[in-house]
Amino acid sequence: MMQKSYKLVALLAAALLLNSGYAAAEEGFWSWIGAGTIDGWRGVGVVPVDNKQYKEECGSCHFAYQPGLLPTKSWEKLLTAEALHDHFGEVADLDKDTLQTLRDYVLNNAADKSMHKIAKKITIATDEGQNNTSDISSQDTYSDPISVEGVASQRAVGVFITSLTGTGNTVTLQKSVGSAGTWMDVASYTTDQQVSYNDSLDKQVVFYRLGVKAGGYVKGATRVTLSDFVGTRPLRITEVRYIKRKHNDIPAKMVKDNKDVKSLSYCNACHTKAEKGIFKEDTVSIPNYPDY
Ligand code: HEC
Ligand code: HEC
Repeated sequence: MMQKSYKLVALLAAALLLNSGYAAAEEGFWSWIGAGTIDGWRGVGVVPVDNKQYKEECGSCHFAYQPGLLPTKSWEKLLTAEALHDHFGEVADLDKDTLQTLRDYVLNNAADKSMHKIAKKITIATDEGQNNTSDISSQDTYSDPISVEGVASQRAVGVFITSLTGTGNTVTLQKSVGSAGTWMDVASYTTDQQVSYNDSLDKQVVFYRLGVKAGGYVKGATRVTLSDFVGTRPLRITEVRYIKRKHNDIPAKMVKDNKDVKSLSYCNACHTKAEKGIFKEDTVSIPNYPDY
């Protein structure tokens, strides 16, 4: 019964996500469920770490982040031998068996496998793909860029163009390697399309945009959409849109310029009950700024 209504709520939350702002979707989710529906979980945002080996191996340089703070697709990227060898500039190698054990533990408890409040919000915040639409009615106009990384199907870029046929306009797909800025043509289109493009590269980060170059516009309003089919896979908890929004207003002097915090990554410097999986506002105390 509870499972069922939970599913319905998830659908409603997904609908909400499409119709209103991200914030409303992430925040609104829990009010659909209703406080206290899931007894005993009240106040606990993510399941606390209950794996001793994880706590030791992953809690030596920073607080041992609960698996519920990132979705499976993010942990999959973070927890490979290759990724750990260059882990945010540090070497965090693990032997093969330990890696397998910790990886299994984390993937089984990732945000999208949890119904706890903050895990749920993180799942919603990372659930939808990159999907940028632009209505183009002048030359030199492009969609916002999307980025691809990874291998094989992870690199598929969806190109959707409508109201192009018959206008004489030319839509161009462009790429920029590493960061957005140095654009090169990849393909061009003069009729409506729904195609998938894949550069088949190996793990390189490449940005794409779709639009009409200078000289490519004749008339009408052509709609272009670029999509990545995948969704966002942040490598940092602090890059998750919901987490970013919650900390936007904290001045730098209290975070990176605060010697007892260093960066937002050190959750437990401010969240006094972080190890218990509790991140509520009334448990926050910023070192050296007791009055915040
Ligand atoms: C040798 C030290 C070290 C070890 C061991 C280590 N890390 Fe890290 N980790 C770092 C550093 C440094 C950062 C970046 C912190 C910063 O930007 O201030 C980081 C960042 C992270 C982040 C991103 C935090 C954010 O900013 O949102 C995650 C997630 C993470 N580590 C997970 C793990 C896991 C899981 C393990 C165990 C397999 C692990 N780490 C082991 C040093 C380490
Ligand atoms: C510099 C201190 C500081 C650090 C470091 C920090 N936070 Fe926060 N966090 C805050 C403050 C202050 C708030 C309350 C913001 C508000 O709503 O006004 C907050 C709010 C939150 C919330 C929302 C809580 C709620 O009930 O609305 C979550 C979740 C959260 N932080 C998670 C994290 C995680 C995870 C990390 C580490 C990756 C982290 N924070 C690092 C200060 C910090």
